[in-house]
Amino acid sequence: MTTDATVKGDIRDPSLAEEGVRRIEWAAREMPVIRSIRDRFAKDKLLQGVRLAGCLHITTETANLAIALRDGGADLVMCASNPLSTQDDVAAALAVEYGIPTYAIKGEDDDTYYKHLGQALDHKPQMTMDDGADLVATIHQSRTELLDEIVGGTEETTTGVIRLKAMAKDGALKYPIIAVNEANTKHLFDNRYGTGQSTLDGITRATNILWAGKNVVVVGYGWCGRGVAMRARGIGAKVIVIEVDPLPALEAVMDGFQVMPMLEASAIGDIFISVTGDIHAIDGHHMEAMKDGAIIANSGHFNVELNLEALKAMAESSRQVRPFVEEFRMGDGRRLFLLGEGRLINLAAAEGHPASVMDMSFANQALCIEHLVNTAQSLEPDVYDVPKDIDAEIAKMKLAAVGVEIDELTEEQRKYLSSWDVGT
Ligand code: ADE
Repeated sequence: MTTDATVKGDIRDPSLAEEGVRRIEWAAREMPVIRSIRDRFAKDKLLQGVRLAGCLHITTETANLAIALRDGGADLVMCASNPLSTQDDVAAALAVEYGIPTYAIKGEDDDTYYKHLGQALDHKPQMTMDDGADLVATIHQSRTELLDEIVGGTEETTTGVIRLKAMAKDGALKYPIIAVNEANTKHLFDNRYGTGQSTLDGITRATNILWAGKNVVVVGYGWCGRGVAMRARGIGAKVIVIEVDPLPALEAVMDGFQVMPMLEASAIGDIFISVTGDIHAIDGHHMEAMKDGAIIANSGHFNVELNLEALKAMAESSRQVRPFVEEFRMGDGRRLFLLGEGRLINLAAAEGHPASVMDMSFANQALCIEHLVNTAQSLEPDVYDVPKDIDAEIAKMKLAAVGVEIDELTEEQRKYLSSWDVGT
């Protein structure tokens, strides 16, 4: 915890700032879209004086988003969106070197986590950026005095969007939110390739297991599950998919995976990975059926995907065997290994998604904040999709940044697509 009064925010150690700057600059190399948005923002200053609170994972990639918003003139504060995902050197760099008050310490307990959210809210934001909707939920539950001045917000992730849509359905949501997650340039890349790679990275760093030949059970076949299953197969694992929705379950079958009920897979799996966005996807009775030595990890936003209370109640003893690996010994002698306290393993034990995909996710964040500056006053409280032109523009910018050219439709083709009279 910071004691230096000149540092704005609450970070682990200001002396980590220099290392944080080096790593933020390294990530920037892979974030050309954010770079060009930052250059434009710095010129136009369209966010001048807008008070923003960002509750996001404090990583090198998030830092590049924050710097772009700051350069656009935003008056920005940041806090962590998960107690275990903060990169302490990045938090230090933001607070000390980039002048962005930051409230985030890796491993903070739940009380400190919510204290930090409260401190970010003391900034009296006019706009919020969330990853999991904790900021929005806190405002609506206990900081309603802030609602008068808040005009809009954004939400980064599937879990947060589900939560916000439930709020909107109940008539509880009091300001408009853009669901960044719903942009194609977000979920098709971040959720699939980002979660796919970073989840395997987190589990590998935590355990150093060999994946080849292992039975890997991927619970959930949304975009994140697709990515995890694809990458686990790519590294040589035998992948089983669990899915409750018939359509994606059928897709998993045709993608060549074994699909079966969770209880059946429980007795087979060596490694279990939940990516469902729902509660107790891996429940107590599943854990009862698991083999000695099974590894359990979650890569969904909240640790509720695993029934940790059941695991703890079932175990006779537990001990930490490596960083991010806790062994639970059952009465019958079986050992189950829980990774990263059941929190999102890609950010707890690794560095989250690589910068190149976060470039597009955070370009959506930046452009949606700009869009809200121009439009929020005319929007009713609800959850909105990212405007199509923003999504398309980001795809175009990313292609250009990676040096890929594509063809355009000819005039003849354009005409054909809008005609109905030419048949067989
Ligand atoms: N979510 C997943 N990976 C991330 C990253 N690298 N930075 C911020 N949020 C993330």
